[in-house]
Amino acid sequence: MTDRYAVIGNPIGHTKSPLIHGSFALACGQDMTYSAIEGPLDGFAIAVKAFRDTGGLGMNITAPFKLQAYELADECSERAQLAGAVNALKFEAGRMLADNFDGIGLRNDIERNLGVAIAGKRVLLLGAGGAARGAVLPFLAQRPAEIVIANRSVDKALALAQRTQKYGPVRGCSYADIGHAHFDLIVNATSASLKGELPPLAPSVFASDSLAYELLYGKGLTPFLRLAQNAGVERLADGVGMLVEQAAEAFLWWRGVRPETREVIQKLSIPLG
Ligand code: ATR
Repeated sequence: MTDRYAVIGNPIGHTKSPLIHGSFALACGQDMTYSAIEGPLDGFAIAVKAFRDTGGLGMNITAPFKLQAYELADECSERAQLAGAVNALKFEAGRMLADNFDGIGLRNDIERNLGVAIAGKRVLLLGAGGAARGAVLPFLAQRPAEIVIANRSVDKALALAQRTQKYGPVRGCSYADIGHAHFDLIVNATSASLKGELPPLAPSVFASDSLAYELLYGKGLTPFLRLAQNAGVERLADGVGMLVEQAAEAFLWWRGVRPETREVIQKLSIPLG
């Protein structure tokens, strides 16, 4: 019987996950289907149960259900616990296992696809919500010189730094306290770009050889990427590679096979400007 997987979110019309996993399945010769489910806003757990009860083996979770998935799961990976959010479920031996591959997808895109090793680098992470929380452990595992987490509500940045400091050098602060030295890697993990807004960031954080990475994808030059470009940054990236890389990690977790990502990333990439 063909194995079944799905992504659940609301709204879900925009999702690229069926296309990505469909391409992976074809390339890896896996007998599986992958569909998109619009979960009712007040019925996430029921929709997951229905999929599982009818033979579903795993799901990706997207907005607004990542926190609910975390609460629903029987077992969560350490990085999902730290993020407080789940983006993949696996139904195995009567248990619901949960993980969060967003941060590792981001790291893999930066290191493998964009060719920037994080080891020894100064990293500036903007935001302290679910997206930023998912990135801290995968980044620290690569032994950066330092991660500075800047957030509008400084208490959240400080709390995230405190929770993660046993894993490596990390500091939380307000935008005003980032300092004057530039960073090798600046990641916009805020949701500001969704609203066409810009975090209050001084252009001095950028150097011409920095990598400026916007987690949002497919929106061209966001205010953050434009700020970086105006500051002389040549290496600009959006989150399309992260999207495909997190999918590859979930695919590996479910199927035991790591798919190639390059062609799918190329297919989904939209020029930045
Ligand atoms: P996600 O799961 O996508 O990270 P979230 O948990 O709601 O979403 O977090 C949104 C992040 O974007 C937060 O860090 C938020 O800052 P605050 O904690 O201070 O609210 C940040 N953010 C949203 N709009 C912003 C803006 N215009 N400027 C700066 N930061 C912004």
